[in-house]
Amino acid sequence: MSDIDSLLHEDRRFAPDPDFAAQAVAGSELYDRAKADRLGFWADQARELLHWSTPFTQTLDWNNAPFARWFADGRLNVSYNCLDRHVEAGQGDRVAIHWEGEPGDSRSLTYAELTAEVKRAANALTSLGVRHGDRVAIYLPMIPEAVVAMLAVARLGAVHSVVFGGFSAESLRSRIDDANAKVVITADGGWRKGKVFPLKPAVDAALADGKTSVESVLVVKRGENVVDWTDGRDRWWHDELAAAAAEHEAQPFEAENPLFILYTSGTTGKPKGILHTSGGYLTQAAFTHKAVFDLKPETDVFWCTADVGWVTGHSYVVYGPLANGATQVMYEGTPDTPHPGRWWELIEKYKVSILYTAPTAIRTFMKLGREHPQKFDLSSLRVLGSVGEPINPEAWIWYRDIIGGGKTPVVDTWWQTETGAIMVSALPGVTTTKPGSAQVPLPGISVDVLDENAKPVGLGSGGLLVVTEPWPAMLRGIWGDPERFIETYWEKFDFEGSPNRRMYLAGDGARLDEDGDVWVLGRVDDVMNVSGHRLSTMEIESALVSHPIVAEAAVVGASDENTGQAVVAFVILRAKQAEAQTSEEASAILRAWVAEQIGAIARPRQILIVSELPKTRSGKIMRRLLRDVAEGREIGDTTTLADTSVMSVITDTLK
Ligand code: WTA
Repeated sequence: MSDIDSLLHEDRRFAPDPDFAAQAVAGSELYDRAKADRLGFWADQARELLHWSTPFTQTLDWNNAPFARWFADGRLNVSYNCLDRHVEAGQGDRVAIHWEGEPGDSRSLTYAELTAEVKRAANALTSLGVRHGDRVAIYLPMIPEAVVAMLAVARLGAVHSVVFGGFSAESLRSRIDDANAKVVITADGGWRKGKVFPLKPAVDAALADGKTSVESVLVVKRGENVVDWTDGRDRWWHDELAAAAAEHEAQPFEAENPLFILYTSGTTGKPKGILHTSGGYLTQAAFTHKAVFDLKPETDVFWCTADVGWVTGHSYVVYGPLANGATQVMYEGTPDTPHPGRWWELIEKYKVSILYTAPTAIRTFMKLGREHPQKFDLSSLRVLGSVGEPINPEAWIWYRDIIGGGKTPVVDTWWQTETGAIMVSALPGVTTTKPGSAQVPLPGISVDVLDENAKPVGLGSGGLLVVTEPWPAMLRGIWGDPERFIETYWEKFDFEGSPNRRMYLAGDGARLDEDGDVWVLGRVDDVMNVSGHRLSTMEIESALVSHPIVAEAAVVGASDENTGQAVVAFVILRAKQAEAQTSEEASAILRAWVAEQIGAIARPRQILIVSELPKTRSGKIMRRLLRDVAEGREIGDTTTLADTSVMSVITDTLK
């Protein structure tokens, strides 16, 4: 057995509990139906799960591949689908969101209340000039207004671009500029780790030079922060909503109407604006939310712990749960504030039945110890989900045993910002689960693992994960950059002469085991995965070299037992600086600089000041060797280096 085989060998199996299976939402017939008629299957889902103002007659148009059109002649309003129709169906009194602030304040909003707020917000945005197709940037903490803002933008047929509150003014600025946003919705601050962190100053800084497309800034009052005010541009959210009319009738838009842009890291320095549209995205978000989590909207309480700044928050805090009329928990703060059992306390308080979180959180809780969850009654939990990075079998088992009481199915869900919704996962009540493997493509989804020559690797081997058929929630492009869209995802496996046989390159390495189950091994490109967040090595490198003391920089993702990967940077200082500053000083300055340029999530764990970087004869940095250094391993093959002594120079300096 090779190393990788023994690493991935896993004998533990958990067959579905018969009682659970008897009542499960999903059954194995879904796979049969989708296999017999994949497009018919998706058309059924679209009709069953959504309300169409104009029914579609065509399911998929793939003639202009890789630019897909799903349900293209149908019309719908996404916000109506997530709100009004539930109220009209008599479910207005059902709680949509049980929101809990970090300091302990809380609010529960019913579907009727949420609908009413979204209507007012839509009217307020209209009076600020937001029209169909306009872009609105949202830079908010995890408060109900984030959901209201997204749905209000969607209601107008406008496009939201949510920027995670942890990103810096610089990052916000580049996203606002790229999307040409007309309005920014932000807050005076939000609670995190027992303190209010400010957001408005970052917006002010981002817009400071006045050279911006932004006409108005709407500010939600969350903290008690004093904020600077630009008259004529800034307005309080509560004032605007109070002044707005209460009624707002949602107009239907084309199924392919853009719904949102979400920026994510790619292999170059510039984040890509991933574009999603309405009908296909909402269909798959709703279907997966229902089938993968066995959702029973009348009785379940769902909790996805992701921030709405990431795609997981878009699909499984906002669109999936609300399209399905679910009740969910939304929490503002950090898991360990004010005590390490905060999440478990919330599960007990709201009787959460479905929990969806990331392996990095699970590993942190494992470290903290089982005594924290064991102080609370977690017996309401019946399905557990994982997303964002590979989950190691130990964490999977701990999750099932300690959080799930040894009885709950655990679903490990593989997907990406680009795929819009879950693609590969077990189905609770149907699949016999296997710790560590994401397992099988969902009904209606086709994936494979190919070698460099586009040949399927078959069972027992590893290669590149691809999606072989278009899917409803697939990205429709990169905002403003169709070339990059094609190059990044569709060029590696396009088949000359049959353009609609193109396959989508996910950027992940994967392996099929002897049962055909998918094991996702991690990125094969220059994208790192830190605590389940995507970061680009190139983006951090550009930030580093933009600092005057830096001559050259190389960044690698080194494996880290808590965060999955961690950012480690190798930096050559400019000659003068190298004399003037100690390595410790330079490294402290640069760690802070990266946090300021991109956001705290990108701050390197470690910056190593070196005098050389390993390069090939063509000048390409050999990150593989740097990763060996960062992970404290013996240095691999150096024969392709232009100067083979470089690695010993580096290891000597670091000693
Ligand atoms: C990784 C998050 C292994 C993968 C939804 C992918 C995973 C990237 C899993 C997308 C999983 C996500 N097992 N790896 N279950 N889920 N990934 O765009 O490398 O933030 O390409 O979307 O996360 O990250 P993104």
